Amino acid sequence: MKHATLLALALLCTAQAAPRTLAQIQASGTLRLGTEGAFPPFNYFESKKLVGFEVDLGNALAKAMNLKAEWQTLPFDNLLIALNQGRFDYVIASHAITPERQKAVDFAKPHYCSTVNIVAKVGGPLDRKALAGKTVGAQVGTAQLPILRAVPGIKDVLTYPNDQVALTALQSGRVDAWSSNGPVVAYMLKQAKLQNSIKIGEVISNERNASAVAKGNTALRSAIDAALDKLMKDGTYAKLSNKWFGQDIRCK
Ligand code: ARG
Repeated sequence: MKHATLLALALLCTAQAAPRTLAQIQASGTLRLGTEGAFPPFNYFESKKLVGFEVDLGNALAKAMNLKAEWQTLPFDNLLIALNQGRFDYVIASHAITPERQKAVDFAKPHYCSTVNIVAKVGGPLDRKALAGKTVGAQVGTAQLPILRAVPGIKDVLTYPNDQVALTALQSGRVDAWSSNGPVVAYMLKQAKLQNSIKIGEVISNERNASAVAKGNTALRSAIDAALDKLMKDGTYAKLSNKWFGQDIRCK
């Protein structure tokens, strides 16, 4: 099924579902956060523990709102649907703000900006031109898929459940290239000690990456934005960003 169709379905399915209001969340004392858990270093598992920049930031946001944080993880492609079904209150999983997604959910202010790059083995296709006649892999449900499909002459765009599987496909030669967010690729290549054999190439998009609440959950979104503003002003955001990236990755 096309992503657009899935998003439309998500909206339909939420007709009777009830995401919690800010008042209900405050009364419960707990913010339920959703993420993926396979997108290092933003949200991932270190042995059994959910960690990452977005996990630290989500915990800090909950704290700033005087709420206890409770995390759930789901495959990336299910997150916006689950959000609109009220399975959690808030999603933070590196979603790029796109017009398509804006129809389905309400985004908070971006919590960072990043590139999406083409990635290939040394000697492989590292830019759009070189992708003609080649195959590329990317995570299912991501914003880079339509961009990749529009590359002139591209042979095939294959989707994978997460970026680890996409990287493995690149390593084993099942695809000629891979495409994901720059900081994620850099982190994964370093972890796997692949920096000498696999290179990060052309930027194919510049994203504003944001968390989201269910469509119409305006009071919750405002509270999140206010908490994020506070963390961006009081040094908490800078501290967390430096911890994970050695630099401040907020949108300039
Ligand atoms: N930034 C890309 C997008 O918006 C990829 C995000 C993937 N996130 C994840 N948790 N796997 O589609």
